[in-house]
Amino acid sequence: MRGYFGKTLTAMAALALTTSVAVADDVEVLHWWTSGGEAAALGVLKEDLAGKSIGWNDMPVAGGGGEAAMTAVRARVTAGNPPTAVQMLGFDIQDWAAEGALANLDEVAAAEGWDAVVPAALQAFSKYDGHWVAAPVNVHSTNWVWANKAVMDELGIAEPTTWDEFVAALQKVKDSGRTALAHGGQAWQEATMFDGVVLSVGGPEFYKAAFIDLDPAALGGEQMVEAFNRMATLRSFVDDNFSGRDWNLASAMVINGEAGFQIMGDWAKGEFINAGKVPGVDFACFRVPGTAGVVTFNSDQFAMFAVADAGAQAAQAEMARSIMSPAFQSAFNVVKGSVPSRTDVPNDAFDDCGKKAMADLAAAAEGGTLIGSMAHGHANRAAIKNAIYDVVTAHFNGEYDAETAAAELVTAVEAAQ
Ligand code: GAL
Repeated sequence: MRGYFGKTLTAMAALALTTSVAVADDVEVLHWWTSGGEAAALGVLKEDLAGKSIGWNDMPVAGGGGEAAMTAVRARVTAGNPPTAVQMLGFDIQDWAAEGALANLDEVAAAEGWDAVVPAALQAFSKYDGHWVAAPVNVHSTNWVWANKAVMDELGIAEPTTWDEFVAALQKVKDSGRTALAHGGQAWQEATMFDGVVLSVGGPEFYKAAFIDLDPAALGGEQMVEAFNRMATLRSFVDDNFSGRDWNLASAMVINGEAGFQIMGDWAKGEFINAGKVPGVDFACFRVPGTAGVVTFNSDQFAMFAVADAGAQAAQAEMARSIMSPAFQSAFNVVKGSVPSRTDVPNDAFDDCGKKAMADLAAAAEGGTLIGSMAHGHANRAAIKNAIYDVVTAHFNGEYDAETAAAELVTAVEAAQ
């Protein structure tokens, strides 16, 4: 019986298959949570499962944003040996489900009442064809700025609320001899900044028209040219060694006061917390100036690949159940920097940035301004996302001027469809 996943079923499967209980109970987890903050959050999940005697076979594939991890998953599936549980984002989940590769989680979802507590915007990715195929562990969002509080105070910088104020603040930090903007030159990091920048130029309608509807008029128009101009402005505030730097090392530059600001999703908060830093005291979090009221979200979900072994299936279901428990959602997301994927988790354990993130998410869901992140696979499929990445990164590295970049965006997106 699939709803009663425990030792009984596992032991029965072990008897029937004459495999050992330990092997049958393992869950193999492929993920890209390799930074200090991410590893700490993963530790919360490992511990939770260990408490339920679920073994953990770790498959880390480093690389923020998960591109390398997705390549690794493809290789494993092609070899006929899929991992049992895989960290996955947005449209990737839908693509794997369409291939018929994912397990059906309806039974555990029904038993635990997921339908009533998971926001519709997330269910759109967790379900395929009306069936649950993934368990959402969190909700992150990308339109955030992380700032060193001491640097802001020393330079008399107030929290910027407009783009111009933000640029003035960056200039002040640069003038003080520090790196104004901590950044790692990797396509996904530039795309993450672009999420906030595009939103700051044209608001949610423009963002949706460009990245979700793929409207050529939005992708190639005046506002997109302005977005690329803003990216060029940001480029002028990064240090000379930005190329190839991992995102968490950019966060570390803000943490240790070498840099003033970082534009990054709220997984960056996990790094600050992991370094023992306190929001409002050591660091500040605010929405990318000009984007207040809008949330460009990405939700990490664990998709379970369809496997034949009954013991492995039991472990998958137990993992999904653990992930969705309110107590786990609180404990995990406090460490990860994200927000619970269920709407009924109290905010008591969260710090000020976390409380703000939870309130922002609820308000955006209510007001129709909760939008899938382009950079993190929640606006369109990977082929489109990658086409946008290429143009954004080429422009950031000086290959195109703003007008050419906007024109290239139209062509690249068209070719990827
Ligand atoms: C995102 C993911 C986050 C975080 C980040 C950097 O795609 O949703 O959980 O891990 O990449 O690695």
